[in-house]
Amino acid sequence: MRILAIYGNPKHGGFVHDCVDHVAERLAALGAEVDRLSLVDAHIEECAGCFTCMRTGQCPLDDDVANIIERMRQADAFVTGASVRNGYFPALYKRLFERITYIVGFGRELWGKHVLAIGAVGMATGKKHLGRMLTFHGFVTHVVDYLFFRTGIPTSIRVDDVAGRLDRSADRLHSAIERKAPLPLLTRLGGALDNFAIRRFMLKSNPDGVYDYVIQRWKQQGWM
Ligand SMILES: Cc1cc2nc3c(=O)[nH]c(=O)nc-3n(C[C@H](O)[C@H](O)[C@H](O)COP(=O)(O)O)c2cc1C
Repeated sequence: MRILAIYGNPKHGGFVHDCVDHVAERLAALGAEVDRLSLVDAHIEECAGCFTCMRTGQCPLDDDVANIIERMRQADAFVTGASVRNGYFPALYKRLFERITYIVGFGRELWGKHVLAIGAVGMATGKKHLGRMLTFHGFVTHVVDYLFFRTGIPTSIRVDDVAGRLDRSADRLHSAIERKAPLPLLTRLGGALDNFAIRRFMLKSNPDGVYDYVIQRWKQQGWM
């Protein structure tokens, strides 16, 4: 069982970092292999919008994203964490999201993979927007839990204060992966509807082969 733990804040340490660490350690104690990805330490360029990746599955930019995508492919599940910033999410997390959208997102490479997301806010707002990033919204993942904590400004809670909730969610994630718990019906239906629209209005026309990679992935999965 391989878990990719994504530390999504643009700083070292902090409350969310400690929460992701806590869950990662619990999963490791349960026997999972944990791969830790700290976005602040990764070299992630801005997406240039060339759409080469939809055609080839490869991004022409030379940075850490190809390696990150490979680690996402290897992972059975994800533990993700980041804080609300200005009512939304850290720009760094969004930068990664944009870079993976047309490869693992449209390629449906995370379909049904389990996610435990951990978010935090100082005072208020941002829960929904942050959750969309942390759970890879639109990629049809299986969200086991989305924990959201209010920290105060400056942060006045510590990981020990929420350890019980983190442990319960970590155990739920571990069990879901072990049981290979299938996608909930509503998520599956939503994914099928999305697939229908993408197939009908995008992939079918495939002007100049621009969707070649995505189509190849969908054929492998029996969707085209
Ligand atoms: C640039 C920036 C923007 C923030 N925007 C918000 C906000 O819009 N609303 C809010 O309640 N807290 C906001 N915060 C507070 C953080 O959400 C809070 O400090 C964080 O959740 C604490 O977790 P951490 O130690 O893991 O960073 C912001 C913090 C920073 C640094």
